[in-house]
Parts: sequence; structure tokens; C-alpha cells
Amino acid sequence: MLVGEAPGRQEDLTGQPFVGAAGKFLDELLASVGLSRSDVYITNVVKSRPVSGPPPGRNRAPTPAEIAACVPWLQEQLGILRPKVIVTLGRVALDYFLPGRRIADVHGRSIPQGPVTILPLYHPAMVLYRRDWVRMLRKDFRNLRRFLDE
Ligand code: URA
Repeated sequence: MLVGEAPGRQEDLTGQPFVGAAGKFLDELLASVGLSRSDVYITNVVKSRPVSGPPPGRNRAPTPAEIAACVPWLQEQLGILRPKVIVTLGRVALDYFLPGRRIADVHGRSIPQGPVTILPLYHPAMVLYRRDWVRMLRKDFRNLRRFLDE
């Protein structure tokens, strides 16, 4: 199970997670380690688009209140799916599953949490236009592959 932050504009319009630019990059990262969308379940912590300004508006970070309001749905998804591995994409999802941990310290590592293993990754949208970070994210995906293979 991969958990991102919140829908962007494309996601809000289609009702599907990660279908915009970040989603295309995510598909490519998954494919680079032999995974496709049909192998994983993808969702977000926040279930509707945090937006500011007049339509179409700009994406913004979700507030703590918005996160708290959406947590029951995420918990329901977790209860139904019972994933063994949860990949957090970005800070918001990391904060939910491993509060207080810094992404710079834990990215790419598998962290056991009871019956679940959390594998924190940087958010694809954040690294998209930074070549060094893209390299790091690709490496973290290879760690994910290695972890799944083991
Ligand atoms: N960013 C996210 O965190 N989630 C999406 O679904 C799209 C972009």
C-alpha cells in the first residue's frame, strides 16, 4: 500500500490518486522495479484537494484539522486491506504512520511497526525537477524492491 498526501487537481477531477504529473512519475518508478498499479494499492491521507485561491486554485499542504478529519477513512482502508508493507510518500503520510520521524533520516529504510513494515519515501512531486533527488528516489525504490524480494 502506498500512501500519499492529498489529491491534486487531476486527482480531484477524476477521483483517482496520483494521475497527474506526480502520478506519471510514480508509475515510472514502480515500473523501474518491476511493479505496476495492479500490484499495489495507492491512496492519500487526505481525501479531497486542499486548495487556495480562486478556481482552479493552487494546491496547498493540508492542515492538521483536514488530516484529522480524513483519518477515519484511512483507518477504514487499512482495516479492510491489512497491508503488510506501507510505503509513505512524503512528509504528511510519514507523520501519520511514524510521528516525529524526519524523512531525511528514514527514507528508503524499512521500519517494522508491529505486523506492518513502513517504508518511507520522498514524495515524487517534490523530487520531480531535482536530478539528485530523483536519483535518490530511484535508489529508495530499489530498496523497496529488495525488501519485497526478501
Ligand atoms: N500528490 C499526492 O500526494 N497524492 C496524489 O494523489 C497526487 C499528488
